[in-house]
Amino acid sequence: MCIIDSTYSLDVLPQEYSTCGVGDMRLTSAEVEHANGSFLLDLRYVEHTIHSGKYALEGLPAFHGDDWETLSVVLRDPSSDVEIELLYGVCEAHDLITRSVRITNRGKEDIYLHKVMSLCLDFCRGDLDLITFDGGHTRERNLNRAPLRQGEQGVSSVRGASSHQHNPFVIFCEHDAGEENGLCYGAALLYSGNFDAKAERCQFEDTRFVMGIHPYGFRWKLAPGERFTAPEAALICSPDGFTPMTHRFHRAIREHLIRDPHPGERRPVLINNWEATEFDFNADQLVGIAAESAKLGMELFVMDDGWFGKRDDDTSGLGDWQVNTSKLPGGLEAFVPRIKELGMKFGLWVEPEMVNVDSDLYRLHPDWALGEPTRPQAFGRSQLVLDFAREDVRNYIYDAICKVLDSADISYIKWDMNRSLADVWSSALPPDRQGEVYHRYVLGLYDFLERLHRDYPALFIEGCSGGGGRFDAGMLYYTPQIWCSDNTDAIDRLKIQYGTSFCYPVSTNGSHVSAVPNAQTGRCTPIETRGVAAMSGTFGYEMDLGKCTEAEKAIVKWQTEMFKEHWKLIQEGDYYRLTDPFRNLDYTAWQHVSPDRSEALVSLVTCSTRAAQPFIRLRLKGLDPARKYSVNGSENLYGGDALMYAGYPFPLFSGEYQSVQLYLKSKTNP
Ligand code: GLA
Repeated sequence: MCIIDSTYSLDVLPQEYSTCGVGDMRLTSAEVEHANGSFLLDLRYVEHTIHSGKYALEGLPAFHGDDWETLSVVLRDPSSDVEIELLYGVCEAHDLITRSVRITNRGKEDIYLHKVMSLCLDFCRGDLDLITFDGGHTRERNLNRAPLRQGEQGVSSVRGASSHQHNPFVIFCEHDAGEENGLCYGAALLYSGNFDAKAERCQFEDTRFVMGIHPYGFRWKLAPGERFTAPEAALICSPDGFTPMTHRFHRAIREHLIRDPHPGERRPVLINNWEATEFDFNADQLVGIAAESAKLGMELFVMDDGWFGKRDDDTSGLGDWQVNTSKLPGGLEAFVPRIKELGMKFGLWVEPEMVNVDSDLYRLHPDWALGEPTRPQAFGRSQLVLDFAREDVRNYIYDAICKVLDSADISYIKWDMNRSLADVWSSALPPDRQGEVYHRYVLGLYDFLERLHRDYPALFIEGCSGGGGRFDAGMLYYTPQIWCSDNTDAIDRLKIQYGTSFCYPVSTNGSHVSAVPNAQTGRCTPIETRGVAAMSGTFGYEMDLGKCTEAEKAIVKWQTEMFKEHWKLIQEGDYYRLTDPFRNLDYTAWQHVSPDRSEALVSLVTCSTRAAQPFIRLRLKGLDPARKYSVNGSENLYGGDALMYAGYPFPLFSGEYQSVQLYLKSKTNP
């Protein structure tokens, strides 16, 4: 058909899912190589249906639950018979829209997918800011905000994991949008591999945003009749700034994404031995650390890296998932009961996706690692990546991990992944399927985790990737909490936790108190302040508490009791950012408020010190203006209105890195 209406142009009109090579010169949503070599894709509406309930995505993480509606829109490229189904899940309770895409080859010849975005969103305006969450190892999810300029911009990962460097969550907002004002749109991708989140501010002041699997190295063969499913994206729009958007994401993720094996229960306060011992430990030493922490209220002992194979440093042992009996005589069968006798649960660190060259597994199966046999391989932390795209490799590791899980009473694992993917080539796939390895790897990872979920329904899994290198909504479907960062410095953590909080709930943020000087920064902060920072997450300790003074131990005991008392308020309350740590360099404050606004916990940490400091009068948020609240059990009651509109006056702080917490309890009915 020849279009002669000169006012109609694909290059200008908003598109629900953009075409390729047929007149729209902006970002494409899908790129498909047809049998004749053409990449043209002209998508035409065919039909749509609406039904109650939420669509499911086979082998991929997805929001779930009752009270959803699904919209399916079918598009077709008439010349090639490529069919694209746009899926929309609508959850009115949380104002959440999810999106996914299925591509079916309805033609008679093979086609190759080079790009399949999970969503395309055309804003009919260009005057927006883009906010991304970026950084690196030990400084994840630092907030970056900039006005969109004309052209393409965005964030991505080609590291095989969602990455420390950029997070698959972005916000578009009006230039003056803040915590409580301005239109903003948050978009999260439920995917843990290579991703692309790209915006283009176009010539006529419109903006296109596409988000999905990164096209880098991606070429997926689709035979006639076959279907490819793109990972899910989740969108929340708030006309009133970031705080309501955050609250909706937090509730939706807690209630409709995470599959907690013990829903509604408080998670045990844990002690992890990594920063205390690294690889250098024996059974008695670990029992000593556990015993001391049990006295102070800890309930779960997590044995970190170093318990298996020949593993005295990071150069050997990965892949050999048998207990190192010179460190743990009698294996877990003998060791775990000693922990349980202390009244504690037991957890274990594993890194199933990896292998060291110096391991029995690699000596037996060198081709199980990703990589072309004729090229030298790139090492990361002295290790190679196992080919999780291969089912036989996964099955072998699965059986080995199950043997360990079956050998003792293990209620928790910390699933680590300590390097990026390189040498992405699989010995099990033909040349025309090598472009599938990155994605098949992620599908393999999800398949493994899903099997664990099915076979060990009570097992709690914490995700980890050199800290927060795979902190994404996809992983949260399998691992209800993720180690937020290898950086346990309380002051650095304020920024990391601030950025993380925009999308991800407090209950997902793995955070521990560690020893000083801090292992990553060398900074010394008081134990009180370290507790305040760690309490805004899953809460635990990562140090030898036996080395603390009696005074410090008393504080640790108090912190543990305090967390146990207020965990519901902290982890299920509404989270308010009271300051921006990137702008306010003097102090950082945040607040948790119970859904009925009868309780709140305010935390404030000072980040610098100077003479003649101005008084801090902090305006609180989320309280009921009509109610009166006691502060830390005070006789004096403060009006919710006064606390929010005039603020609470803090005492003067003296010394560096001080902290204070205010527990507010309403004494009057609404
Ligand atoms: C990663 C994790 C750490 C620790 C080490 C063990 O760096 O993030 O918490 O488990 O591995 O090797």
